[in-house]
Order: sequence, then structure tokens, then C-alpha cells
Amino acid sequence: MKNKPRLVAPSVLSANFLRLEDELNELISARADFIHFDIMDGVNVPNISFGFPVLEAINAFGKFPIDVHFMIQSPLSYLEQVISYAAVENVSIPIEHFDFQACMNLVTPSRVSFGAVLNPETPISSLSPYLEQIDRVLLMSVKPGFGGQKFIEDTYQKIEALKSLLDSISKKIHIQIDGGVDTAIARKLFDLQVDSVVCGSSLFKSNSYYMFIREMKNPE
Ligand code: DX5
Ligand code: ZN
Repeated sequence: MKNKPRLVAPSVLSANFLRLEDELNELISARADFIHFDIMDGVNVPNISFGFPVLEAINAFGKFPIDVHFMIQSPLSYLEQVISYAAVENVSIPIEHFDFQACMNLVTPSRVSFGAVLNPETPISSLSPYLEQIDRVLLMSVKPGFGGQKFIEDTYQKIEALKSLLDSISKKIHIQIDGGVDTAIARKLFDLQVDSVVCGSSLFKSNSYYMFIREMKNPE
């Protein structure tokens, strides 16, 4: 268990879009593991991010798996197109979304893995009916919609509750934490056996992505 890979997923929401290719190349050199791609529509959350043209560009870049986090009103209408991009390896949908079940039914037979997003106020117990079908749990550690917010400390207890729930089943489900993660928090999260952390503003504001990710991943 101690040697579990410590996966870091930069959230491209905080990248400099004037020089996106350079940013991605720098993240490759920094040993980032995959790109987290937040799709927001201004309805499901009070912010608008980006959509297919940017997803297509990162797919064409070709060197990163992409993890898509939906925060839109109609994910079902766009899922088939999203999972048709070769680089998309995971999509995650908020568990309380009215189309959650339909989205899961569409994605799980495909090559793409499927994640359930739990927003900060959503209890761990809401996952119970879906454990058979999901591959990942994305715990939001900030309110969805914006980068640069403060990590919610209650997330640590939530992780413990999630681990207890997952211990009761034999299937391996990936645990991902998203929001407000800096290097010190990432290390705590990895010590709790979290599989991956999403990191936006603190990483993109740092002087060296390489040093930042190294610090996140290395226990010392
Ligand atoms: C927030 C998004 C996050 C965000 C993380 O709704 O889901 O992925 O980009 O950014 P930071 O690390 O700045 O909180
Ligand atoms: Zn996200």
C-alpha cells in the first residue's frame, strides 16, 4: 500500500491559454500524470470554462490522458462526443445530477472509466447504490465552479469514511481529490492513500512545475 503511485492531475482551468502548448510541454517535463479538464456551463455552476475546441487541442497534443469533470446541465448530450476523443480516459459526473444513472450507463460499457463526483455537502453514503458500476470517486474539497479556493478541512474525515465504505467491497475504486490542494495538502492526502490529486492555481502560480510536482509526490 505504501508504494501506491501518487498521481498528480493539473487542472488546465488555471493554465495560461495564450501559451497552452508550452504549458503542456512543461507539465510533461514536470512528470504530471494526466490533465484534469473542468467543463462548466454557467448553469450547473456559476462559471463558464471551455468545451470541445480546447478538449480537441489537448487531445491532439497527444501526450496526456485526459480526465473530464462535468459541471454542466446536460452532460448526457455531450458524453458520446467527449468519450470519442482517444486521450479521454475518465469522465466524472456529480452524483446528484438527474442524469447520473443514464451517464453511467452510457460510459461504463466503453473503454473510458467513470467517476462519481461528491460535492462538499454530499454524504459518502450516497455512493452505496452505485459501487458496482463506478471506477472512481472524485471528492470535491471546494465548492465546484472556481479555482483558487481554500481546501475544506472536513475532506480528511470524508476520506476516512470513504475508505471504510470501499473496504467493504473487493473492487478497487480510484479516490481523487479536487480543489484547494497545495504541496503540503497533497502529501497528507497521499499519506491517506488517495490515488490522485487535482491541482490548479497553486501549481500554475508556482515558479517551477517540476519542483512543485516533485514536492507533492515525494514523502520527504
Ligand atoms: C473547481 C474545479 C477544480 C479546480 C481546481 O470546480 O473542479 O478542478 O480547477 O483548482 P484549484 O486547485 O485552484 O482549487
Ligand atoms: Zn475539477
